[in-house]
Amino acid sequence: MCGIIGCAGRDSETLDILVHGLSKLEYRGYDSAGVALAGDGLDVCKTAGEIDDLRAVLAERSPAGSVGVGHTRWSTHGPPTDENAHPHLDCNRDVAVVHNGIIENYQQLRDDLSTAGHEFRSDTDTEVVPHLIEDALADGADPEDAVRAAIGRLEGSYAVSVVLSGVDRIFAARNDSPLVLGIDEDSEARSASEQASGDEPRAAYYLASDVPAFRDHTDRVVYLADGEFVVAGADGYRVTTLDGGPVEKTEDTVDWDPEETGKSGYDHYMLKEIHEQPRALRQCFRGRVDELAGQVDLADLSDLSPRGIHLVACGTSYHAAVYAARLFQQAGIPAQAFLASEYATSTPPIGDALVVGVTQSGETADTLSALREARRRGARTLAVTNTVGSTVARECDHAMYIRAGPEIGVAATKTFSSQIAALNLLALAITSVGDAREVISGLRDLPGAVQEILDTSTAREIAETYRDAESYFFIGRGLHYPVALEGALKLKEITYKHAEGFAAGELKHGPLALVTGETPVFAVVTGDDEQATKTVGNVKEVEARDAPVVAVTDGASDVERYADHVLEVPDTHRRVAAVVANVQLQLVAYHTADMLGRSIDKPRNLAKSVTVE
Ligand code: G6P
Repeated sequence: MCGIIGCAGRDSETLDILVHGLSKLEYRGYDSAGVALAGDGLDVCKTAGEIDDLRAVLAERSPAGSVGVGHTRWSTHGPPTDENAHPHLDCNRDVAVVHNGIIENYQQLRDDLSTAGHEFRSDTDTEVVPHLIEDALADGADPEDAVRAAIGRLEGSYAVSVVLSGVDRIFAARNDSPLVLGIDEDSEARSASEQASGDEPRAAYYLASDVPAFRDHTDRVVYLADGEFVVAGADGYRVTTLDGGPVEKTEDTVDWDPEETGKSGYDHYMLKEIHEQPRALRQCFRGRVDELAGQVDLADLSDLSPRGIHLVACGTSYHAAVYAARLFQQAGIPAQAFLASEYATSTPPIGDALVVGVTQSGETADTLSALREARRRGARTLAVTNTVGSTVARECDHAMYIRAGPEIGVAATKTFSSQIAALNLLALAITSVGDAREVISGLRDLPGAVQEILDTSTAREIAETYRDAESYFFIGRGLHYPVALEGALKLKEITYKHAEGFAAGELKHGPLALVTGETPVFAVVTGDDEQATKTVGNVKEVEARDAPVVAVTDGASDVERYADHVLEVPDTHRRVAAVVANVQLQLVAYHTADMLGRSIDKPRNLAKSVTVE
């Protein structure tokens, strides 16, 4: 998804800061990139391709300026070309705009502007913005008012940042797309060269779609809300409403280190994040679980006592939601998981329902829209998210953080495990589960069980064996059904191979027609209860059709007799077994993609944070 970085107050360092910021936003997914620097004039460099392609363009041009904006574009209007890359300019090349989101009334604006004589150079919706600013300037508005006026005419979703020739300030605004201000007013954080120069320390400000873009420079942030407008320059920043009305903002401090967004020696962020899971899980549990008392304390969340629960989510988070719905159902609370993008057309929340948005980023447009719909229908809302200060956390009545730390790889891994852990805590806190002590002790063992998988997994050998298959199936029942869905999603996201997850019992109702000796089937079977026995029956059905079977199992059932390979998981509580089994499948996906030479951290066409519906 598009990424924005802006910087004011760093003078000669502006370009380096922008490019570094863009590289930190790469994880969001993009297909072109560009920067604009404003000083006495306005200099713009942009290109289709990757940040390295932009660096090559910059090496020939070396633009300079005291303020600047940069952008990574994920195409929505028009293909990824140099012309469609941001920043976009007005006719006079005095105004540069970067934008994340979708301007819904752009066609009308573009027609009107074209009729008035403006010339467009791209296919994008964004390009109307610099032309609107150009018109407002021509009408005599000062730069700030011109930007406000132009943004006031936009309908749809946007985070917009603007620089203008001869103006040493950045202007920005948001509606339905994330934007955060970084504040660096601390002279110690300034560059050594600057301090050595003996100049009065001045403030620097950053504007970005996400904190990692500027986390190397400051940990002080102000999260902007919809309808807010910010002006930042070396002499300070000001947040108002779009109309200029006063807004009270509070500053937050980011509680993770810049190193957490590095690769720490791993080949890929995804592998690093898979290995971070034990630590992430411990963080999720810290201070929330009283093992002796057999209780979970989630402060005010413990008093929620809902009569019914709807969970709304997308992608991997949806699989965590499917898992959680089963937990709540088992505890006697009517619960259902919905794909967020379908929620508006589904049954309304039952009276007194709690609607839980599960979203790693806290910015997924479909999930935000489903939660807004739920609020319109009168439901209470709870965000289960990884991102403090995210839109979902601010808009929902309650928020619970999964504390997984920053996740950069587009394919979600550690956040899935932490979502499951957090949702287990939530279930324990708001329902009366008979075996709470047992569940808590299972959760306590979870980080160690995941570590055991990381230390002993033979997933790489499985990946080697089946790397050339055309199609892969994943099956599981009960709490292992969402694991089957997630196993398939991970594989398809990063290997670009066809993979499907099924409820094990559903295979015979259609998908079995596709099973041949060339279709590896991954079966998740733990324990030896009735569900396990039935899944083993489904394994026999595919084995009879010559399909190679990989059993992900703790060895309690006799599934190994019908399997060609086994990925072992330790004997754990059934709630925990789902997470542990999923780690094996994460590793299968990772190693297969690695052997196929895929772009693991930034798979084609995908984005980490999808901020359009
Ligand atoms: C995108 C990502 C997925 C992610 C989904 C939901 O599609 O590529 O990995 O699962 O969004 O993201 P969220 O931030 O809401 O959990």
